Amino acid sequence: MVFDPSRNTDFYLNFAKENNCKLTRTFETHLQADYIAGSRILSEEDGVEFFANEIDFAHTKITYTKLQDKADYGFANGGPSVKCAFTPGHTPGSTSFIINDQYMICGDTIFIQSVGRPDLGGEVDTWSDFLFETVQQIKTYSDDLVILPAHYMSWKEANKDLAFIATLGEIKGYNSDIFSMKDKESFLAFIKGNMRDQPAEYATIRLINANLEQVDDEKAEELDLGKNECAATAYAAMQEEQS
Ligand SMILES: [Fe+2]
Repeated sequence: MVFDPSRNTDFYLNFAKENNCKLTRTFETHLQADYIAGSRILSEEDGVEFFANEIDFAHTKITYTKLQDKADYGFANGGPSVKCAFTPGHTPGSTSFIINDQYMICGDTIFIQSVGRPDLGGEVDTWSDFLFETVQQIKTYSDDLVILPAHYMSWKEANKDLAFIATLGEIKGYNSDIFSMKDKESFLAFIKGNMRDQPAEYATIRLINANLEQVDDEKAEELDLGKNECAATAYAAMQEEQS
């Protein structure tokens, strides 16, 4: 299984082959706006079953299997469990996957520093409330849960093995301002206080990921090289200025 693959699908197919495996399922954590997703390609070209949240994908021209909140997508013949947890906020259909109760693949819901921006769809008031509720839900998970976010903003976020992962306990500590917010109003005020423009390319990337528009390889490469603008805090803005 793969989660949020890039469009360079040969990497995943070769990795599976080298390990005597076959890719059977590909999951998208949300309808991405900042890079071209590979799940559609794996599904169309290689017969891998594509799972996505209907809330984000209903308007797309993609054949996919609808994710069910709290369902387990683990292998039928054993192996780790893959529990689906709807975590709306960054997008209304944002979804996380909890692997074996040990790891959480959370897309752009929370990061090592910051949380996912809830303002990219032009409905910041509603999506910010979703994200506030999601943060309250995540707070109840074990502090030992290892979070695997989809982005980082600085190499300083890497651990000693240069992996961008941290326990939920650590993330709560790094983002204590966000995790300690008591109500939706203060959360929204915080989000609005950190809002900034999104790159113009995001609209095109969303259309490509919904299969409503396609571009040639050269253009796809150019779009993929754009900036990650998915995080919500001043810390993120600061990293951009430095880069
Ligand atoms: Fe995103």
